[in-house]
Amino acid sequence: MFVYFLTVQILLIPTFNADRNFSISSSPICESASDCPTGFSNCTAVSELKKKRCVNARQICIGGKPELPIKSCARSRDCTKNVTEYEGWCDFETKFCCEVDPLSRESPMCPDRVTPLYGQEKCEEYEEGMIYSGKSEQKGGFCYKGYSCPPKITRPKSLKFGTRTFRTNIDCDVGDKIASKYEFMFCHNETGNLWVMGKLNMNGDEVIKHWTLCHLNKDCLEGQVCVKEDICRYRCYDDPVSSFFEIE
Ligand SMILES: *[C@@H]1O[C@H](CO)[C@@H](O)[C@H](O)[C@H]1NC(C)=O
Ligand SMILES: *[C@@H]1O[C@H](CO)[C@@H](O)[C@H](O)[C@H]1NC(C)=O
Ligand SMILES: *[C@@H]1O[C@H](CO)[C@@H](O)[C@H](O)[C@H]1NC(C)=O
Ligand SMILES: *[C@@H]1O[C@H](CO)[C@@H](O)[C@H](O)[C@H]1NC(C)=O
Repeated sequence: MFVYFLTVQILLIPTFNADRNFSISSSPICESASDCPTGFSNCTAVSELKKKRCVNARQICIGGKPELPIKSCARSRDCTKNVTEYEGWCDFETKFCCEVDPLSRESPMCPDRVTPLYGQEKCEEYEEGMIYSGKSEQKGGFCYKGYSCPPKITRPKSLKFGTRTFRTNIDCDVGDKIASKYEFMFCHNETGNLWVMGKLNMNGDEVIKHWTLCHLNKDCLEGQVCVKEDICRYRCYDDPVSSFFEIE
């Protein structure tokens, strides 16, 4: 029933293909929306450009609305001065800074409710309308609406966390405590991303948990990370990432 409902809803949402070669600097210059040809919804300031451009919001942000002024990014830390407070994302396809559109009926989050879906990597072999189809290239992830999501699902009263460890594209600052909404997550100092702690590390071995409480990674021993466990507990775990693969 649940799946049926979601599927129907997806089919009712108009589809669009993001033009990967879209370049905002070649969009028409404008002073107000009335200067813009049909097909463009707004006349908007762009961080990198002196003059306003005609834009189509969907070309900028696939599943949210553009942050204004429009700004391009490689990852979410390019969008903000403080990644710890930031709630938006860098759209994986369009490479613009985006935020939740309060008018949209569709949530732009993964099933964990905290990872921005459209900031995650795309899945291979996604079939339109089959929300769980596709193959996640991001190790440990599962596909949702064609994007790689953390292997955990938040239901109103329970949180399940997966077996596998997973890197999200959410950026973090190792100097700040992880916000309490990021259950079972930690900030990795080498990738600068929030990771989801699984029961197994990247090598497939059981993750070792210590009893030490912490606020930050540096409160733990060398080679450990500080994981947000539940409402008010943060605990040291062996780093499930570093020793197992080369981080670029
Ligand atoms: C995008 O641009 C590249 C390089 O300019 C070009 O090779 C490619 O064919 C373009 N793709 C589309 C879909 O226009
Ligand atoms: C487009 O214009 C509408 C109406 O003025 C406004 O509510 C919306 O935020 C604008 N969107 C962008 C991307 O500028
Ligand atoms: C960023 O935000 C966090 C959480 O509000 C705060 O603790 C931290 O001091 C801020 N960092 C900077 C550099 O402003
Ligand atoms: C990350 O933290 C580990 C200890 O947990 C430390 O050995 C390493 O040097 C740190 N790397 C960076 C880039 O700070």
